[in-house]
Amino acid sequence: MTIGPAAATRAPGDRLGRPLRDLRVSVTDRCNFRCVYCMPKEAFGKDYQFLERREILTFEEIARLARIFKRGGIQKIRLTGGEPLVRRNVERLIEMLAQIPDLDLTLTTNGSLLAKKARSLRDAGLKRVTVSLDSLDDRVFRRMNDVDFPVDKVLEGIEAAAAAGLSPVKINMVVKRGVNDNSMVPMARFFRGSGHILRFIEYMDVGHTNGWRMDDVVTAREIISMIDAEIPLEPLDPNYTGEVAERWRYRDGSGEIGVIASVTHAFCRDCTRTRLSTEGKLYTCLFATHGHDLRALLRGGATDEDIFEAIGAIWSKRTDRYSEIRSAHTAGLDKIEMSYIGG
Ligand code: GTP
Ligand code: 5AD
Ligand code: SF4
Ligand code: SF4
Repeated sequence: MTIGPAAATRAPGDRLGRPLRDLRVSVTDRCNFRCVYCMPKEAFGKDYQFLERREILTFEEIARLARIFKRGGIQKIRLTGGEPLVRRNVERLIEMLAQIPDLDLTLTTNGSLLAKKARSLRDAGLKRVTVSLDSLDDRVFRRMNDVDFPVDKVLEGIEAAAAAGLSPVKINMVVKRGVNDNSMVPMARFFRGSGHILRFIEYMDVGHTNGWRMDDVVTAREIISMIDAEIPLEPLDPNYTGEVAERWRYRDGSGEIGVIASVTHAFCRDCTRTRLSTEGKLYTCLFATHGHDLRALLRGGATDEDIFEAIGAIWSKRTDRYSEIRSAHTAGLDKIEMSYIGG
């Protein structure tokens, strides 16, 4: 066992000294949306082969891994997808994970099923949610989700989440130039004073199907200056080291927003995140081209100790810092899709 000094309960860090703190679990590779920047219909059409049931980790397998990761020092689990709420009975998984003490348990959703599910998610032990929402303009929103889903139902979901106590609700807006940049100021005005935290995300070159180009990226600097011109802003300190969003508050005290500048201001230096795919592969970077098969260990009779050691060995070799070294060359690599590994 090479996992480190503290009675082998905590990983000491990767090659760049970064500890493992944050586990993101993709519970399904399916989604009921076809967002143009994530699951474009040309690539994810009727014939697309999603994973089969026997391939995907069971709730018991996920919960077992989560307990092992907890020993390794993780403090937060975020459930992602695809769309996590399309996995049947996901509340049962949440109940199992909620039994692990001292864990921030959260979920990223497109909000389409939230109005129906907010209460049961909360009852199962979920602490908060992040909702993806790219525009308040119904026409723009329907065009972006590309399944003609109305914006009002997502807004209902956000309110249901807040009412159920899944708060603060964070709202993630991916900004794509010429597509929804005009929606930024209306979004800021709408959510200001609501208690929800709006975050603008620079459009990233995840996966290889979305045809990403740097010209499509509205930079964090542009975003902030556009909002600041309408509603004056001032910077805020991060809540914790390695926080992905840079925080800003409205000078009049009506709330805060964030910008996630993974393209123009990479945050790999403090990246403590690892990702578990739906079929149990561990990816140490959002932009990885290769994952480590934990399902083979789970189903091959490995003990918890074996798996703990395997995870420690993977993490201790990690050198990922994709966003810091992004270039025309790396943007063209055969990377995993966001819909497969989660946000
Ligand atoms: P909390 O602080 O727990 O609320 O969450 P968070 O700030 O980590 O936010 P969230 O998990 O919602 O991530 C927001 C977005 O940031 C994601 O949808 C991605 O677009 C981007 N993001 C998150 N983690 C990474 C990462 O490790 N690398 C890169 N490049 N982008 C990331
Ligand atoms: N760039 C930035 N964010 C993305 N997301 C999905 N694809 C991209 C991309 N190409 C975000 C979604 C959601 C989360 C799951 O990931 O908007 O908030
Ligand atoms: Fe859109 Fe999220 Fe579904 Fe991707 S996983 S298509 S970003 S709703
Ligand atoms: Fe972490 Fe990779 Fe994102 Fe950098 S690019 S912040 S290493 S997940």
